[in-house]
Amino acid sequence: MKITLSVIKADIGGYVGHSDSHPDILALADKALAKAKGSGLLVDYHVTKCGDDLQLIMTHQQGENSEKIHKLAWDTFVEGTALAKKLKLHGAGQDLLRDAFSGNVKGMGPGVAEMEFEEREAETVIIFMADKTSAGAWNMALYKIFADPFNTIGLVIADNMHRGFAFEVHDIKEHKRIIFNAPDEIYDMLVFIGAPSHFMVKAVYHRESKEIGAVSSTQRLALLAGRYVGKDDPVCIVRSQGEFPAVGEVLEPFAAPILVEGWMRGSHQGPLMPVSVEDSTPTRFDGPPRVIALGFQLSSGRLVGPRDMFADKSFDLARHQANEMAYLMRRHGPFEPHRLPLDEMEYTTMPQVMEKLKGRFTDLPPD
Ligand code: F6R
Ligand code: MG
Ligand code: MG
Repeated sequence: MKITLSVIKADIGGYVGHSDSHPDILALADKALAKAKGSGLLVDYHVTKCGDDLQLIMTHQQGENSEKIHKLAWDTFVEGTALAKKLKLHGAGQDLLRDAFSGNVKGMGPGVAEMEFEEREAETVIIFMADKTSAGAWNMALYKIFADPFNTIGLVIADNMHRGFAFEVHDIKEHKRIIFNAPDEIYDMLVFIGAPSHFMVKAVYHRESKEIGAVSSTQRLALLAGRYVGKDDPVCIVRSQGEFPAVGEVLEPFAAPILVEGWMRGSHQGPLMPVSVEDSTPTRFDGPPRVIALGFQLSSGRLVGPRDMFADKSFDLARHQANEMAYLMRRHGPFEPHRLPLDEMEYTTMPQVMEKLKGRFTDLPPD
């Protein structure tokens, strides 16, 4: 049975500030998707939040980029925005960059990750969702999951993974894509994906079966809007078990928190902290950035779950380490490397200050 799993998300208003989502907004979205399930458009759905982002997880048989599914998500965000305005939530409708829907939510503000596949006998999926960080935050995790034998022992000892995976990498500034085969081309690939604000892992494929193993949202809000309108807060779907890495191999990269861009005003580097859905409430200095992971088994498109994977105690130390990293970074205040390098500040709230002071710079006398 061919099933499409779509995750479409947007920040349509924060509660309180940018720290969380209001339960009434989640209830509204739940009602909208229940109606779509009742009408047969959706096979199943799960509504959740990651910080101030509303997450619509949907299964259906309309394929990727379906106008009907994207319109359902868009209409839900628009309806939610009206309620957010009524509640005077902060930044109501912040991610909805266009007024009218035109066939697809891509380029309109929301983030999208979708994959269509033939459901396996047991179809295990993990959906990662992040807040207060950028598209590209998945690069290192996807590399470790699908290409690093120190993370994924299956690459070494499981016959059905031994040939490796193919990575589709997008150059989001030049609007180009390239496929790298791992492990053969990992050194070439790392030149690019090691710069996650420019090159992003869009999808990963099994090299023998050609089956899709992962897909991420790569929409860059700032590049779409041409100014700072909030962070991308990306999502990523990973298929697991069998010819794909095991659940524990998929979660393992997050046990060692890394620095990602985002946090306060989208202008900083900070640790990506793995948390339960309940704890996805970026509070300290509007952070630090959070990642949640929901696990499902699919049964003819039915979302059996979720299990809140990072609620597990084995991620306690990662959270503790992320908090220590947060202290280390905060110590730098407005200095790099906590603050982003200047060329990355172009898409934050800083350019107005630069513009104001432009005329005050005078030439230095010759040396
Ligand atoms: C970062 C984020 C927050 C806001 C900050 C200012 O992604 O959402 O750190 O940038 O709270 O918010 P505004 O400008 O909405 O008052
Ligand atoms: Mg927000
Ligand atoms: Mg957010």
